[in-house]
Amino acid sequence: MTAQTLPPDASVNDAPEKVMTRWLWLVGVVVLTAGILFGYDQGVISGALTGIKRSFNLTTLMVEIVTSWVTLGAMVGSLVAGTIADRFGRRATVLVAAALFISGALVEGFAPGTTVLIIGRLVVGSGVGVASVAAPLLASEMAPTRLRGRFISTYQFGITFGIFVAYLVDELLASGEWRLMLGLASFAGVVLVLLTLPLSDTPRWYLKVGRRADAEHSLQRVTRDNATAAIAELEARLDEDTATASWKEILAPRWRRPLVIGIGLAVFQQITGINAIIYYADKIFAAAGFSSVAGQTAATTWAIGAVNVLATLIAIAFVDRLGRKPLLLAGLVGMGVSLTVVGFAFLSLDHVTRTSSTAANAGSKGPSDAGIITLVALVVYIASFAFSLGPVVWTMINEIYPRQVRGRGVALATAANWFSAWLVSQFFLSIVKRLGEPVTFWIFALLCGVCFVWIRLKVPETKGRTLEEIETMWADESST
Ligand code: BGC
Repeated sequence: MTAQTLPPDASVNDAPEKVMTRWLWLVGVVVLTAGILFGYDQGVISGALTGIKRSFNLTTLMVEIVTSWVTLGAMVGSLVAGTIADRFGRRATVLVAAALFISGALVEGFAPGTTVLIIGRLVVGSGVGVASVAAPLLASEMAPTRLRGRFISTYQFGITFGIFVAYLVDELLASGEWRLMLGLASFAGVVLVLLTLPLSDTPRWYLKVGRRADAEHSLQRVTRDNATAAIAELEARLDEDTATASWKEILAPRWRRPLVIGIGLAVFQQITGINAIIYYADKIFAAAGFSSVAGQTAATTWAIGAVNVLATLIAIAFVDRLGRKPLLLAGLVGMGVSLTVVGFAFLSLDHVTRTSSTAANAGSKGPSDAGIITLVALVVYIASFAFSLGPVVWTMINEIYPRQVRGRGVALATAANWFSAWLVSQFFLSIVKRLGEPVTFWIFALLCGVCFVWIRLKVPETKGRTLEEIETMWADESST
């Protein structure tokens, strides 16, 4: 659990030339593919649920478990990934994630009953968790400094693209073909293995384990600069860098602010509702009056999936120009307002359903005005998330921790993210059942408001600062 990223100022592969060598492209494609698999495994369940429910006759609790235990697996996966990455290398860790993706998807696809299906979900989930630490780590250690942000954003882009592809697959296949929907991820896992095998590990990891020649060779593949000089510099830094803090130390008062901020951002990213929408989109659209399954899946694919991908590009374009805080704050306003509107739309839907309950088949006419308003509001919500909390939270988690605590800080924040994702997806349907859709969406909206105030007051801007400057900033309490 001590995985560390390259120091920010390491000039390793920091060549000023057109830096994208063939190997760097390959690293980019590996990171993208890992993101796509992560997204696919998260998104595919939305369209598969109806078929699974029919095959296994599931209660609401079991539907929630089948949906959400991917995130529990991911929590465990993210906690152990750092240790695997330090001991066996970053490349090997990506291969472990791929192996978990492949085996989990096959178990899901051939599951004879609910228990095996849930085991498959846990295995796939641990792959998602391992990938969520390994891919950004590989990206940040291989990428030239100037392109590091873009490499990490590529990962988030992969996630959203994977969710979109999952929705498309859900739309193309009938819900009865849920085994194929879930099992298909194993092919993508095989592609990830094939792409990763020719890669070498990162220069930094080779140096850490004393394989200097391999480090130099690896560096030569990604830069045309003087690899020997860069390696010497990196080696010097490594000495300062190997003093990794213990778990106890990470809780020391001097690291408390970045720890709280990282975990806070990770938790808020989830408790403002994103995965309730991603996982249960079809069900939300059904409740909003999209009575045909085709209508529900089309709304999910395009209004949620495609918008999520496109709006992520906004973040990639502006995160380094406008800064993290403006994007986060603007996104939270959009998310809060749209969730409030969704709540009101459901309130009026409830009213219409009650008052027209005597009219036969009131719900079978297709989306009402309130249904259309829900659709539009959810588009605004997803777009607002995708240019703010989606990519910016991962970016900040990977840049706010001082070197000594980075590996553990990132692991803790990532695990907190998955735990909160689990909480939301596990209890969303039950909360809706108990409190109704309007109150549930208003709770998410309220949490957007709380997050807005907290970020405004407590979270510093990190744009344009080196990691050293960020480290110094924590020491100076008055800097926010
Ligand atoms: C979140 C995921 C979410 C995805 C949606 C990511 O940043 O961590 O939980 O499903 O964005 O695009």
